[in-house]
Amino acid sequence: MRRALLLVLVAACFDHEQMLEDQELPPLESAPAQGDFAAFMACMQLDDFVASNMAGAWSTVASDGGACTTCHTADGMFSGDAQRFFDDLKHRTYVQVQFFTFDRTTNVVDVNTETIPRVGKAVAPYGEHPRFNATKGLDATFDLYERTIERLAARNCQ
Ligand code: HEC
Repeated sequence: MRRALLLVLVAACFDHEQMLEDQELPPLESAPAQGDFAAFMACMQLDDFVASNMAGAWSTVASDGGACTTCHTADGMFSGDAQRFFDDLKHRTYVQVQFFTFDRTTNVVDVNTETIPRVGKAVAPYGEHPRFNATKGLDATFDLYERTIERLAARNCQ
């Protein structure tokens, strides 16, 4: 009985191997690693940035010290000018990490839902910072994130 079962198993294995050999596989091409932060940033497109209304949303988040761009003028973060904001997000690491996180152990990119809301609540070390509600901006960030992840999955990064 045991022997018969073993034979069946061996036969099943051979069949399977045969199947794999017969299968016609497409040629190898380099796949963008989905969880890789550099690949994620490289795949991000201005079209998606505009469609998700990143610039419109962040530039109109009100704080009790005025619009973000009243003080944040040195870089394009939170700018209503989509191209400027997008260029900074694409090229400046410290801007990227305000909006997205990367977990090196799991290789997963995610939206940074911690940093900006913490600043908005004036949590230490941002005790002097004007207060604001980041929800509108984060919604746009989630939208951009999802569009970019979809592009990566579809290998539609251009
Ligand atoms: C009155 C001036 C002012 C306004 C208005 C302002 N900020 Fe800031 N912000 C600062 C300063 C100064 C710092 C750096 C010092 C600190 O952390 O408090 C800062 C720091 C930050 C940081 C942390 C950056 C880092 O490198 O750690 C974030 C994120 C941020 N601001 C987001 C915003 C957003 C979003 C808005 C608008 C809703 C906004 N700020 C409005 C002055 C301002």
